[in-house]
Amino acid sequence: MEVANRNYRIAFYLNGALREESVRPDETALELLRERMHLRGVKEGCAEGDCGACTIAIGEWNHQHFRYRAINSCLFAAIQLHGKVVITVEGLADSGSLHLIQQKLLDNHAVQCGYCTPGIVMSMFCLFAEIADPTEQQIKTALEGNLCRCTGYITILSAARDITHTLQRNSPNAILPDYCTEVAMQLQSFAKKIEPHFQNSKEIRETISYHKPVSYSELTTVLSSLTRNEFRFVNGGTDVFVEQNVHRKFAQHLIDLSTIPELKRLERVGDNVFIGGAVTMQELLTSLDIRQHLPMLCDALQMLGSHQIRNVATLAGNVAHASPIADGSVALLAYGAIIELLSPRGTREIPIDDFYLDYRKTALQPDEVITTIRIPVASDFASFWKSSKRVAVDIASVNSAFTANIIDGRIVACRFAFGGVAKTPMLCNDLPQLLLRRIPDETVIRECQDTVLRVFHPISDVRGSAEYRRILLKNHIRYHLSKLTASVKSIGGNHE
Ligand code: FES
Ligand code: FES
Repeated sequence: MEVANRNYRIAFYLNGALREESVRPDETALELLRERMHLRGVKEGCAEGDCGACTIAIGEWNHQHFRYRAINSCLFAAIQLHGKVVITVEGLADSGSLHLIQQKLLDNHAVQCGYCTPGIVMSMFCLFAEIADPTEQQIKTALEGNLCRCTGYITILSAARDITHTLQRNSPNAILPDYCTEVAMQLQSFAKKIEPHFQNSKEIRETISYHKPVSYSELTTVLSSLTRNEFRFVNGGTDVFVEQNVHRKFAQHLIDLSTIPELKRLERVGDNVFIGGAVTMQELLTSLDIRQHLPMLCDALQMLGSHQIRNVATLAGNVAHASPIADGSVALLAYGAIIELLSPRGTREIPIDDFYLDYRKTALQPDEVITTIRIPVASDFASFWKSSKRVAVDIASVNSAFTANIIDGRIVACRFAFGGVAKTPMLCNDLPQLLLRRIPDETVIRECQDTVLRVFHPISDVRGSAEYRRILLKNHIRYHLSKLTASVKSIGGNHE
């Protein structure tokens, strides 16, 4: 376990060269790269994960594969760059000639003011480094977290298709700069040889400390020495750094959960899927177990944030953040998940039904951390929907999730969860009784719509008026029940 109460000395490969830097515990990768290392291609647009102008590529070994991830550097701790390969747009052009991605953006007239362009280049770099011939949808997903305010997206998408064609004709290796293979090999021994260490310094904010436990026992030791108000957990950093950057709220202690192996658990055992607290949303989306057994969770996560956010954010973080409109929480409510917790006093479990107490208030005790989310694999049918102004990087006006068990075409058990209609994500407990042993025909749909409007009294806010939300609620009921009916018909269920 390492504790820093001043500065932290880190080492990482930046654009092919090994660099050592001294960083503050609360410093973002954007601040380090742009302000102190003068890489001006790393732009700051929003500082809260909405625009993608700050996108950089992070490379590391993962199960024998070296992978690059696109991340928002404005929401990533500079300390977490230690032991990684970092590539910014400055690391792509070779001796003055543009990189293939840059050249194709130019050829397709996909640049006007250019402010968004470095971020778009880096998102494309991570996509094409992984997949030489991406589908149209994979291209759109990779770019969904990058806003362009003046060029528009048609020419940017044309450039991406042009790159695909070029890579198919030539070597796919045209994407990776020459130094990539060497630094990837060096990184394997580097991480073992160079231990990060803390460095005393007289720099600012000396009261902020960074804790990096590597086991449950180290974690509980840290937790027993701190009080809740003093610390925040950091994994992806997508909530902590928004609070810092936008609301100027700084925690006294940051506890990094990303190096505790147990928190990376992701497996199916019997009728349950276990998701560790440090598993990222992208890891869930690419897990065969999750895709096969919990496809509705994939639907929810695919609409959450952006590709850059999902590359670092965790489902546990989404649950603990306790937003009344959290997509992950709504899906987990419908699945009937169990939240497993750890504290210096031991472990305990809470059904997610009892987890949310009030607006942004949960049953988590001050010294507790989410270690695992256990999801039963029990439903015959599950669906998720989200109504928001934009498909990506947007928060829903209303979201909902529905799971059901069917026998002979009739519902024998179900759970209906909603977000954006109360102070917390909520189950509608009146609907299962109403739907029991029934076929969701037009009469049933109308009864359910009336019930949900009687139970929930949404308020007006920036994401929609109360009246708009009431209309959405009715539409969400129709969406899920119609989808269930179609699904039952397609598998030959008996509707008589
Ligand atoms: Fe906008 Fe980072 S600056 S996402
Ligand atoms: Fe101006 Fe994209 S080119 S914002």
